[in-house]
Amino acid sequence: MNLHGKVALVTGSAIRVGKALAISLAEEGCNVVVHYGRSTDQANKTVAVLQSLGVQAWAVSADLADEAAVSTLIADARALAGSIDVLVNSASVFPEESFETATSATWDHTMMVNLKTPFLLSQHFAAMLDAEQGKIINLLDASSMRPRNHHFSYTISKYGLEGLTKTVAHALAARNIQVNGIALGAILPNSNDADPAAFDAMASSNPSGRNGDPKAVADALLYFVKHADYVTGESICIDGGQHLV
Ligand SMILES: NC(=O)c1ccc[n+]([C@@H]2O[C@H](COP(=O)([O-])OP(=O)(O)OC[C@H]3O[C@@H](n4cnc5c(N)ncnc54)[C@H](OP(=O)(O)O)[C@@H]3O)[C@@H](O)[C@H]2O)c1
Repeated sequence: MNLHGKVALVTGSAIRVGKALAISLAEEGCNVVVHYGRSTDQANKTVAVLQSLGVQAWAVSADLADEAAVSTLIADARALAGSIDVLVNSASVFPEESFETATSATWDHTMMVNLKTPFLLSQHFAAMLDAEQGKIINLLDASSMRPRNHHFSYTISKYGLEGLTKTVAHALAARNIQVNGIALGAILPNSNDADPAAFDAMASSNPSGRNGDPKAVADALLYFVKHADYVTGESICIDGGQHLV
């Protein structure tokens, strides 16, 4: 897909990885709707950065744990931008919990934001797509493919999101909508993490001996969106080989 003049909606793109993805799309001439939850100031700053790159950009807020808000997000974004050609499901929650400490409430919240919302947004996106081609990219986690007993609900949500990626890819293939996943390793320190040294220490157990950066994720995004019109239902690990050990 030639991104020039197209429109992408990137959830959770006021800050961090989502912001880097929004910038990489804007650098290709793609207009961007910056979805955010609570990061209002940062969303406005990200919009200004995108506009400075010569594209149109808008900020739109929605609580992705609230199904009513999710149900209008695609329509709200389309009302601002005129159309949506690319949906990037990047927003997520990452609660600290094990099998033993997970609760019904953390499970429901995590499954809503990380799994049900991407499903609903994908469904609304496909229903409203005006163009003859569309792209959906889901942000996965390479560690969910080798699960351990931590971040319990999160891990299962990302495992489910990989399944959603394949299933929706099959459902939408005939409509020329490609659906793919990017499975991240250690890219940025956990935003809840009080100890940034713990993130640095992860590099020593990585086969590459280093952590990644958002640019590597953006490169994978551009591969799928720009260069992979005959690829769907795939996931690519951007993790320096962590999924191998
Ligand atoms: N960072 C990594 O190293 C890493 C590793 C593995 C996988 N990933 C995956 O890559 C993606 C991006 O990572 P990240 O670290 O940039 O994510 P993040 O900082 O954990 O979350 C991104 C955004 O999600 C939004 N969000 C969460 N709950 C929301 C809600 N109820 N309503 C609206 N927005 C909500 C927040 O927006 P507001 O701030 O506006 O509220 C937040 O800024 C995620 O899917 C993550 O699971 C990241």
